[in-house]
Amino acid sequence: MTISRGSGDKTHVWRESYSRVSKDLLRSSQATNRSRIKTLGLHSLRHDARILDVGAGDGNLFTTLRNAGFRQIWGLEYQAELAALHPDRSRIVIASAADIPFASGSMEAVIVMDVLHHLPGAQLPRCISEMRRVLEPGGVLFVCEPAGTLFRKILTAMLMSPLSRISRFSRDKRAMVEAERETLDPWLEAERGIPAQIAAGGFSIDFFERCWLHHYGRFRAV
Ligand SMILES: C[S@@+](CC[C@H](N)C(=O)[O-])C[C@H]1O[C@@H](n2cnc3c(N)ncnc32)[C@H](O)[C@@H]1O
Repeated sequence: MTISRGSGDKTHVWRESYSRVSKDLLRSSQATNRSRIKTLGLHSLRHDARILDVGAGDGNLFTTLRNAGFRQIWGLEYQAELAALHPDRSRIVIASAADIPFASGSMEAVIVMDVLHHLPGAQLPRCISEMRRVLEPGGVLFVCEPAGTLFRKILTAMLMSPLSRISRFSRDKRAMVEAERETLDPWLEAERGIPAQIAAGGFSIDFFERCWLHHYGRFRAV
């Protein structure tokens, strides 16, 4: 499947940095994922719940969920190069989050982690409506996305300073921030309206909380 990303696309720059950062963080990112799924309340789902991981990247979260005992996890990722790194190729489809190739009502849970802020604003309502469509009524949407906290602003200012030259890791993180800026900045500006926007797509809000760097949200398909 060919997915058009428009001209001036920085996806490959972002992907190369992300792949290195992801490899460096492999162990600690598993611990972060475990803590995130606990904060979201996903850990208390039945282990045979049907879960869709939207924007699955290289399958990092899939590994966390599988190690936590979940058995029915599917992933969706639009970059074939990242999908190729997924630990179970039979469980990942290459597609856009704005056009999810799963049947209506086929999932009990959808998790979208660090993905929505990559979408051009115009695609967000479409993605929300697609996540709602694939969920059964009462199904749960778990969201973990960047928040524009003071802590994030300080970290970003440090990354944008000459300090970022000290290691390959910080150079990669900086390259990622620069490559995703076009969608991240508008996301952070609009963040306070996000829960209402998700609710308007057919969800009730269980919670939407701001932590150090991220928002954690749980929504129920109505
Ligand atoms: C920061 S990574 C997060 C990966 C994974 N969710 C995790 O937390 O480890 C963001 C992922 O979203 C994917 N992505 C961005 N826009 C997308 C879209 N429109 N459709 C599908 N995937 C998308 C990117 O390719 C990337 O793999």
